[in-house]
Amino acid sequence: MEETRIEKLARKNAEALLGGGTARIEAQHQKRKLTARERIELLLDEGTFEEIGRFVTHRSNEFGLDKEKYLGDGVVTGYGKINGRLTYVFSQDFTVFGGSLSEAHAEKICKIMDHALRNGAPIVGLNDSGGARIQEGVVSLGGYADIFYRNTLASGIIPQISAIMGPCAGGAVYSPAITDFIIMVEGTSYMFVTGPNVVKTVTHEDVTSEELGGAQTHAVKSGVTHFTVPNDVACIEHIKKLLSYIPQNCECLPFTYQCDEPLYDPVPELDNIVPDNPHQPYDIKEVIEKVCDRDSFLEVHRDFAENIVVGFARLGGRCIGVVGNQPAVLAGVLDIKSSLKAARFVRFCDCFNIPLLVFVDVPGFLPGTDQEWNGIITNGAKLLYAFCEATVPRVTVITRKAYGGAYDVMNSKHIGADFNFAWPTAEIAVMGAQGAAEIIFRKEIAAAEDPVQKLNEKVAEYTRKFANPYRAANRGFIDEVILPRDTRRKLIRAFEALQHKAVTRPRKKHGNIPL
Ligand code: HXC
Repeated sequence: MEETRIEKLARKNAEALLGGGTARIEAQHQKRKLTARERIELLLDEGTFEEIGRFVTHRSNEFGLDKEKYLGDGVVTGYGKINGRLTYVFSQDFTVFGGSLSEAHAEKICKIMDHALRNGAPIVGLNDSGGARIQEGVVSLGGYADIFYRNTLASGIIPQISAIMGPCAGGAVYSPAITDFIIMVEGTSYMFVTGPNVVKTVTHEDVTSEELGGAQTHAVKSGVTHFTVPNDVACIEHIKKLLSYIPQNCECLPFTYQCDEPLYDPVPELDNIVPDNPHQPYDIKEVIEKVCDRDSFLEVHRDFAENIVVGFARLGGRCIGVVGNQPAVLAGVLDIKSSLKAARFVRFCDCFNIPLLVFVDVPGFLPGTDQEWNGIITNGAKLLYAFCEATVPRVTVITRKAYGGAYDVMNSKHIGADFNFAWPTAEIAVMGAQGAAEIIFRKEIAAAEDPVQKLNEKVAEYTRKFANPYRAANRGFIDEVILPRDTRRKLIRAFEALQHKAVTRPRKKHGNIPL
């Protein structure tokens, strides 16, 4: 009996759902990986996924491809809800030609990106692909470029999140790189422009895929990935959590959550975190966690440039972006990597109306030939520029050191911060007392009967005069010197007072950040 039209559709649907077939699905599971559809099912609220382009196939005839066609052509695309919020999604299907990108596959991704941009909703890409479909040649390269172009047009308008859940090699890495956040799965994902074989040929280095471009490499060494997660399920959960801090698009405010904790009660433990000895480290994350709503801190780039800490948190239920020097690592000094890390985060928050809270304990910029020759000037300027151009509400708390140029850079009043607080332990000065005394009293110290005693006297004198927050407060550079225990209350009120902040800047095409 001939198949009815309805039966034909059912058969085609069933065929599409199988992707590259049961054997390849089994192989995917063997590798500790979920399939493209399983990932989507976990990501989107139950029953909300609507697929677009299920029956798309490639148009290539080379190398026998005309005889090998799979419905969907290696990528599942569509939209649905994540925690009730509209989100567009594409998920590459490794069971079909290794998730490789053909012209048709790229068109499907582009279509979804266009919808996301027109409708002001986030786009999430689940990447698992052997790169350009080798049999197609240049058309697949064109497909990549079409995606890169859209990534760039969408940048700053809708949030774009890339999960790397398998291979991501060659020029394919540049789409995730343009998006706002990258999440890599440990052990099953890697990213590199050229793989180990090419590396061996060109530079004679022996390196594994994991060493060259695995999750740990990009989390610690290159900073390419913002997060690493142990497996596919954790990856999907992480995407949902990350999105909970981010608004739908640049015209919206982040969602405010109900806060069940006291808003204005003192937090006495904060009084004892900064040690009396200015050379002794402490963990700025302890400060962040005690000030912000319980368990709300989501650290970004946790393992990269650890001398600065960045991440999202909530204060009284409101989403904020937190930047803090980390005195527990390299004394919290600013260097090239930490400047880049913080600059990118500040710019993301500014794009998406996420207010900025900045904790300052910084001895200055890292000296040395390595830093100078690699461009600490240009790279430090990126952070300076990022803060200067940010128009979101901006509040600073100086917990201890704020020395030299780093004082200016770290969200000082002079570059547009709205409220600047200092703890009584703050030292706001051109430089540390020891260094300052050695320079300005050099002759006096050299001529003294006991130079060491003289130096100590002068250090004490400089400390008395400048190693405090009061000179800056006299000038109004600091709005208030506050008790650490009152910080949470002060910040909640400050951000509430700034919630309708509106800044207009002269019209321009775009600025020229020192890249
Ligand atoms: C077509 C591909 C493919 C590709 C994999 N497959 N990559 N088909 N084009 N790029 C197919 C395989 O033939 C195989 O088909 C199936 O996908 C699974 O691949 P395996 O090799 O069996 O899987 P695995 O052992 O897990 O290895 C995965 C891999 C490897 C590491 C990704 O397949 C690989 O190295 N592929 C080539 C990667 C590459 O060089 N890509 C081009 C990069 S250049 P069957 O039928 O057996 O299931 C590039 C330029 C982009 O992307 C530039 C943009 C500007």
